[in-house]
Amino acid sequence: MGRLSLFASLALSLLLAVGSAEAQLRVGFYSKSCPHAESIITEEIDRAIRVAPSIGGPLLRLFFHDCFVRGCDASLLLNATSSSNPTEKDAPPNQFLRGFALIDRIKARLERACPSTVSCADILALIARDVVHADQGPFWQVPTGRRDGFVSIASEATQLLPAFSANISTLKSQFNDVGLSAKDLVLLSGGHTIGNAHCFTFTTRLYNFSGRGDNSDTDPSLERNYLAKLRAKCAQDGSDALKLVEMDPGSFTTFDNSYFKLVAKRRGLFQSDAALLDDADTRSHVIHLAESDNSVFFKEFAGAMVNMGNIAVLTGSQGEIRKNCARVN
Ligand SMILES: *[C@@H]1O[C@H](CO)[C@@H](O)[C@H](O)[C@H]1NC(C)=O
Ligand SMILES: *[C@@H]1O[C@H](CO)[C@@H](O)[C@H](O)[C@H]1NC(C)=O
Ligand SMILES: *[C@@H]1O[C@H](CO)[C@@H](O)[C@H](O)[C@H]1NC(C)=O
Repeated sequence: MGRLSLFASLALSLLLAVGSAEAQLRVGFYSKSCPHAESIITEEIDRAIRVAPSIGGPLLRLFFHDCFVRGCDASLLLNATSSSNPTEKDAPPNQFLRGFALIDRIKARLERACPSTVSCADILALIARDVVHADQGPFWQVPTGRRDGFVSIASEATQLLPAFSANISTLKSQFNDVGLSAKDLVLLSGGHTIGNAHCFTFTTRLYNFSGRGDNSDTDPSLERNYLAKLRAKCAQDGSDALKLVEMDPGSFTTFDNSYFKLVAKRRGLFQSDAALLDDADTRSHVIHLAESDNSVFFKEFAGAMVNMGNIAVLTGSQGEIRKNCARVN
């Protein structure tokens, strides 16, 4: 063996050692143990989105909401076993999540195909990939091998999930706490390119931004024409609190970089979207994505999703493979 190849193999083994210390996930984890796992999930998601295109946003959200609390361990999916111990699902920020019945259906099908093999945490990771390009085939490979956790606590979700009203310093520190960068924050906010939001999540910006509540008490960071449109949709008296508004008007079912174009023009829907312009790093990344074509966003988004999917994962003999995603075995 020549010097060069010796060096190369040393470098390779170092690389592998670093990789496995971070997370023992790998692409194709189920290729032998459950060869059809990924295609079963893709098929179910394609069908669900054909029937109800608006389910895409909520399904993508499930993975974010799981990973930010105790890592990507499907703690989000556990039902409470008593009313005195509410789980993440019961927490206010998770109150409007949807898709749990679909997950139960997918899990039941996977259990029939390969019992006790595919984790609920990996189901969430694969779904998040599949909703993004449901009709054009998968556009990134998802490292798998996560295992499911045993614990789910409502108050942790309330505390740790980034709020739609959060400012940039809170957002950056919440992302930093789970090992994600300011760039990941910008890219993952791009998930707002699909889906709807309830009026109550942003009406403060329209009518009562500083707490005076008079007619001029609007968020100065919100572009005026967009503000007027939002006011026409969401009444001040709260009667529209649960009305749904497109987060990315005109392309709310299309995964594209239009979100960044809107945010750059001060047409982000949430305070947490507008906040991305309040920091030099995040602002320059928003502008970069707004001015690049979609392929740049797709590639970088895929990287950020893989980063998020590594948060505090359970692997090897940690955790378990739940038989039913809503309860521990
Ligand atoms: C951001 O929000 C947090 C929590 O609400 C608050 O403590 C902090 O002062 C805010 N920071 C800025 C710069 O406004
Ligand atoms: C505006 O917000 C303040 C607190 O932030 C609240 O006390 C007040 O009731 C609100 N006013 C209206 C008209 O909603
Ligand atoms: C979990 O709760 C949902 C409703 O909240 C219910 O439909 C489902 O059957 C429950 N699953 C288990 C395993 O208890």
